[in-house]
Amino acid sequence: MNPAARAASLFRGAFGGEPRLVASAPGRVNLIGEHVDYHGGHVLPAAIAERTAVAVAAHRGFAAVSEQGAMERGAWLPERSGRWSDYVAGVVRLLAARLPSSAREEGVAVAVASDVPVGSGLSSSAALEGATATALSALWALRLDQRDLVAVAHRAETDFVGMPCGMMDQMASALAPEGSALLIDCATLETRPVPAAVDLVLVDSGESHALRAGAYAERRREGDEAMALLRTAFPGLRHMVGVPVERLDEAVAPLPAVLARRVRHVVAEDRRAVLAASALEGRDLVTFGRLVNASHDSLRDLYECSTPRLDGIVAAARGVPGVLGARLVGAGWGGSVLVVAAPGRGADVAAALQRAPGITAPAVRMVRVGSGARVERT
Ligand code: GLA
Repeated sequence: MNPAARAASLFRGAFGGEPRLVASAPGRVNLIGEHVDYHGGHVLPAAIAERTAVAVAAHRGFAAVSEQGAMERGAWLPERSGRWSDYVAGVVRLLAARLPSSAREEGVAVAVASDVPVGSGLSSSAALEGATATALSALWALRLDQRDLVAVAHRAETDFVGMPCGMMDQMASALAPEGSALLIDCATLETRPVPAAVDLVLVDSGESHALRAGAYAERRREGDEAMALLRTAFPGLRHMVGVPVERLDEAVAPLPAVLARRVRHVVAEDRRAVLAASALEGRDLVTFGRLVNASHDSLRDLYECSTPRLDGIVAAARGVPGVLGARLVGAGWGGSVLVVAAPGRGADVAAALQRAPGITAPAVRMVRVGSGARVERT
């Protein structure tokens, strides 16, 4: 059964009635453009075929149940609990605030079913937020457009859950076009679909992402410090990616070495994402693969968000025939490696990776590109 059917069936079992509707949203894989979204840079994510579905109906108070069996109940409106249901509750609160007070519901029941792996760097949280926002917007007839939904999903994560992420994951999960990657300019939120005529394979490192939130927040603080220093030489600088590449050496010279490395990564990675989109459009897959490799090397050496295990998987993948490039994907500090293979070679590459030392079969999966959030059933 697909997640939408499972969410509906879970809803019936948990709440004893039919859901009013079901919506779903995908996880995402970012082809290139890592740790630049919160610096106004370009990113190139695609929706993955795996989705999270959310079945909803009016209810007394707040209740959310997931396939993993956890039932969370709370007041109306729900408060932050520190548990998985916060991703739902954050969206509930933000959208309930948009209802006219006369029309405020007394609550909502939510059942969640998902095929998006958790902790693998594929944005299971953005999928849950996007599916919840899409479902509640339809349930409450809020007529929000996709960009409003993105803003709500993003604020649920940053303001309610407390993870200071950029907008890439929520944009990708809500807006990614069927079968294509999406080049997003995170300064303007302009987007351009980019057909990705490559095969994609993911290798899950299996590393816990317990460190991820703290390390990510540290990078955000470093970014703020670097921006404050950069602005002494570039007073009008709005985003870090606005540092001109030809003045990069000069710009980072006065910075502490750690901050200089971070800035070098961000400015170059933004350029790589733009070049990678053009390379895909021009079917220059060799250049695309080189850019993917350069992205990983920069994340490892300059942004310092890789791990020895991720580096080991990347090195093993780069030696497999048919591989164009390999890099860590998402925030890093664990999660998955994205392996880009020549068109038609993905299955062979996946099979070879399953035999590579230190990689176990369930960790390797072919990626099918999916599409953004939608209402499944009304
Ligand atoms: C996480 C965040 C995104 C982005 C990536 C790194 O996935 O949620 O906003 O910053 O890390 O590119």
